[in-house]
Amino acid sequence: MPNIIHAEQIEYLRNLRLPEDPLILEMEDFAAANKVPILDWKSSEFLEQMISTKKPKDVLEIGAAIGYSSIRIARRLRKNASLDTIEKSKPNIKLAKGFIKRAKLGSVINIIEGDALKVMPRLDKVYDFIFLDADKQDYEKLFLLSLMILKKGGVIFVDNLLWKGYAAAKSVPTEYQNSTRIIRGFNTTFLNSTAITSAIMPIGDGIGIGIKI
Ligand SMILES: C[S@@+](CC[C@H](N)C(=O)[O-])C[C@H]1O[C@@H](n2cnc3c(N)ncnc32)[C@H](O)[C@@H]1O
Repeated sequence: MPNIIHAEQIEYLRNLRLPEDPLILEMEDFAAANKVPILDWKSSEFLEQMISTKKPKDVLEIGAAIGYSSIRIARRLRKNASLDTIEKSKPNIKLAKGFIKRAKLGSVINIIEGDALKVMPRLDKVYDFIFLDADKQDYEKLFLLSLMILKKGGVIFVDNLLWKGYAAAKSVPTEYQNSTRIIRGFNTTFLNSTAITSAIMPIGDGIGIGIKI
């Protein structure tokens, strides 16, 4: 798998990492052992800083998995702010509920069970901040649905836009060719959208940041 950022830099920053909450470290170990894709720790730090800077009241996450990024977002929310997170996998929902309970964040994080493609058109809320981290083939549709419920000046934060390095690679393994084509197409849509100002940052697996105009 091609490296996006030189491994030496990542190792250097990892060694500087301050002691983390044991639950966060346990979740990272659980995700690694069980092959659950969660947000890269550097991207998570970036997301946390964005939440602390933006101070959103209503946050939407699309793709909770085991609740790792949900907890990292919720820990940074200001008083009276909340996070809705949509997840379609029943086993992941069960795991997320357990971790969120242990983090004592059950009153801040609301898990919406179901497919975001069906759930989002029925949401009657608008959001200050949306984190998109779902199946890549759904990205275009979920992005358009997100724009409809994102407030003016709101932020959309999208993971995996460098797609393990394959988005920029000349040669892509057969099993990644379809997903890479989808991500490349999405990146063009994202950067050319007239509804947002946008940029893609080489952090973690590639983070897209859009601000609604
Ligand atoms: C990459 S993981 C999310 C990781 C999580 N954001 C974190 O960093 O801890 C993607 C999750 O999105 C869920 N998912 C994918 N497409 C979805 C959709 N259309 N609606 C709801 N959930 C979806 C998957 O079941 C999976 O649990």
